[in-house]
This record gives sequence, C-alpha cells and structure tokens, in this order.
Amino acid sequence: MDNKNKTISGFSKLSKRGKIKWVTEHFTEDPVQVTHVLTSWWHPDDEQQRLLDGFSENTLSNFPMPFGVAPNFLINGRVYAVPMVIEESSVVAAASSAAKYWLDRGGFHAEVLGTKKIGQVHFSWGGDVRKLESVFEDLKTELRQDASPITANMEKRGGGITGIELVNLTHLEPGYFQLKISFETCDSMGANFINSVLESFAKTLDRFITTHPIFDEGDERDVAVIMSILSNYTPECLVRAWVECPVEALGPFADGLEAATLAEKFRKAVRIAHLDPHRAATHNKGIFNGVDAVVLATANDFRAVEACGHTYAARDGQYRSLSHCTIENSIFRFWLDIPLALGTVGGLTKLHPIAKLSLELLGHPSAEELMMIIACTGLAQNFAAVRSLVTTGIQSGHMKMHLANILNHLGANAAEAEEAMQFFEGRTVSFTGVREYLEGMRAKVEV
Ligand code: MEV
Repeated sequence: MDNKNKTISGFSKLSKRGKIKWVTEHFTEDPVQVTHVLTSWWHPDDEQQRLLDGFSENTLSNFPMPFGVAPNFLINGRVYAVPMVIEESSVVAAASSAAKYWLDRGGFHAEVLGTKKIGQVHFSWGGDVRKLESVFEDLKTELRQDASPITANMEKRGGGITGIELVNLTHLEPGYFQLKISFETCDSMGANFINSVLESFAKTLDRFITTHPIFDEGDERDVAVIMSILSNYTPECLVRAWVECPVEALGPFADGLEAATLAEKFRKAVRIAHLDPHRAATHNKGIFNGVDAVVLATANDFRAVEACGHTYAARDGQYRSLSHCTIENSIFRFWLDIPLALGTVGGLTKLHPIAKLSLELLGHPSAEELMMIIACTGLAQNFAAVRSLVTTGIQSGHMKMHLANILNHLGANAAEAEEAMQFFEGRTVSFTGVREYLEGMRAKVEV
C-alpha cells in the first residue's frame, strides 16, 4: 500500500467539498458515488448545517441516528416521554415496555444523593509537606482570590468551589501531590468551568511555592505542575433510581412463570452480576443502553458518563453490577445507584437543535431532574433485559426486530410482512432466509 500518497498537510484548511474530494479520491473506489452519499446527508438548511459543522472539525457530512421516544415513564409521580438516540433495535421498545409495566405498579422513584464534581491539579514537589500544610489556608485564600473572575458567575447561580484539599501521594510516587478540588456546577456539567479554575489554581500554586518565605530558597521552591484537569470519576455526583412492589403484583409472566419464581430468578440474575465481572459488564451494558441513549439525545457527554459509571462499578476493587435487587417481606425492590455528571445548560444542550427539543420534551429539567430521568431509563432498560433473560431469552424479541428490519430493507408490503412474521415465529432469522422466503411467496402469487 502506498501510505505516502495517503497523507496530507493542511487538510483542515480545505473547504468541505475539497476535503470530500481528497478523502474520496484517496480512500474510496468510487469517489463520485461516495461524494453523492456524503452530500445527500447534508442538512438542506445551510444555517443548520453550519451549526452542526461547528460542533467538530474536518466534517464531511452528518451521521444520522434514530431519534425515538419511550412514553409512559412515571417518575416521582410525573409522566415523561423520554427521548432516546440509539442505533440498537429493541432498546427503545424494551424501555417503553418496562415503563408501561411499572406505570401500573407505582412507577419509578428517584433521588439525587449528591452533585459534587471533582478536579485535580497534579504536581511534583520535593519540599517539606508540614510547611505547606501550615500555610495551606493562605494558599486556599489566594487560589480562590485569583480564580474569582472565573467563579463569580457560577457563585451567582449558587455554585462554585466547595472544597480544596492537599493530597500527599509521595508514598506512591516520589514528590507526587495533588490539589483535589470539589465543585458545585448547578445545571451545567461544568467541564469548562472546572478546567478553567484548575488552570488558574495551577498558576497560583506555582507562584505561592516559588515566592512564599516559608519555603527555603532552592530545591524547596522547585515545584512542577504536571497537569490540571477535571476528574470524570464523580462518585458523589450520584443518583438512585428504584422500583418496588409486592412480589405477587409482578406476575403473571411469560411461559406461565409464577410471580414468586420470576422474582427469585430475577434477584439471582442481579446477584450473579454482582459476583461475576463477565456478567457484570453485560448487565451494566444493558443499563447504559438506556442511559447513553438519553445522554446522547440531550447532547450530554456519554464518554464521561460511561467512564464514570464503569469506574464506580469497580469501586471496591472488582467490577460489579450497578443495580441491586432484594426480596424482603414479600416486597420486590430493584434499584440502581449511578454517578451521572450532566448538564441542561451550556455545552451543546441548547445549541444542538434536537437536544434542545429533547429538553423541551422533558419539560426543561434541571440537571438533577435529568439525572433522575436518565437513571430511571437505565433501570427500566436493565429491568426489561433481565426480565427477558430469565423468561423468554432475548433472542425472540431481537429476532422480531431483526426480521422487521430485513423485511423493510427488502421492500415487503404489509401483507407480506405479516405472513413472514408468522412464518419466522420461533425460527432463526437470516437475511438470505428472509429473502428466499419472500421470493418464494412472490413467485406463488405470480403463478
Ligand atoms: C444487549 O444490548 C443488552 C443485554 O445483553 C443486557 C443484558 O444482558 O442484561 C440484553
């Protein structure tokens, strides 16, 4: 392969059409066709397209994803239609089915347990830590003072810096310290705010150590900030979502399963995800099917949410389920504790035209309300998945969606689709199988 001819400098300076031309000519076999596909996904309104292009760099086109809604979510006594962006079939159907199921059983409940965000200034310093501790209050005052132009607005909204700690990690790495800072960022996720404060803190820290008379001239004034960055692990930005009902109110269930049997199988399945990391990863993936879909629909940062959730799931040293289930005094209780750092102002939340619409559908929630909605969607998704797993298995549902997608692709009409649905009930669905079945059906009609 001729790699040399496939590199370029100044790519970002090319016009959008110039970028498409270069990419298609160097990396595709049919540049005309690929160009046609890429440009066909451009938004017809130039203004909207410019807005989308501005969210990222080197954009060629848009990448469409289905935007759906899961209705009937009763959360803390209020009904929501939850917007979801996801490409995996059956996720929205599963969330909707669980929402409807719990609608008749008291709905979902949720509570925000904390909203603390975290940032760190990591630094190397070989001085006497007792000296730094003795003047730490003065340092804190200077840190806050220097950052006040950045924090003033957030303070007006009721947020800001809520704590500054010195963390001595020299037992792990020679000379390694941190400033660990906690923040309240109200309705914004706060990443830019936190990072700006941290970079200001880093400068103040440097100045303080290099100039304060308590530190000896020479090595003790030698401080090096390694990096200043928020932590995506926010275990105290936490929300709990739960459902509960008497065991007998759960059933009757698929395959004639009694409510009590279902409850016990369900409890065991959740327990297995607590005990076994292989199952825990899949179990939590099911939770994130719901969580990520709403996080995306509201233009929140799904990478941050995933990184945090998985770190939290491993907080005791083993990766475990984020959800839990108990049956006590004949009450079935299923709950999820999940850290979620979200915003409903700032970032793309109000800039992205569909994210803005999602927030409108949800009644313009605060960040705390959105935490609760998203946790409940994750719990609903988890409930639906585990319920399927311990009853019918997931393939029957997945196969139906798979079949519907294939029929759609093959242009089946309503009557053909219905007949095919009946024929493939309980049978393995493959593209070739469905195509041959349809061809057979159409041939019969022609005869
Ligand atoms: C598939 O996307 C998600 C599930 O595998 C989750 C689970 O196993 O709990 C069905």
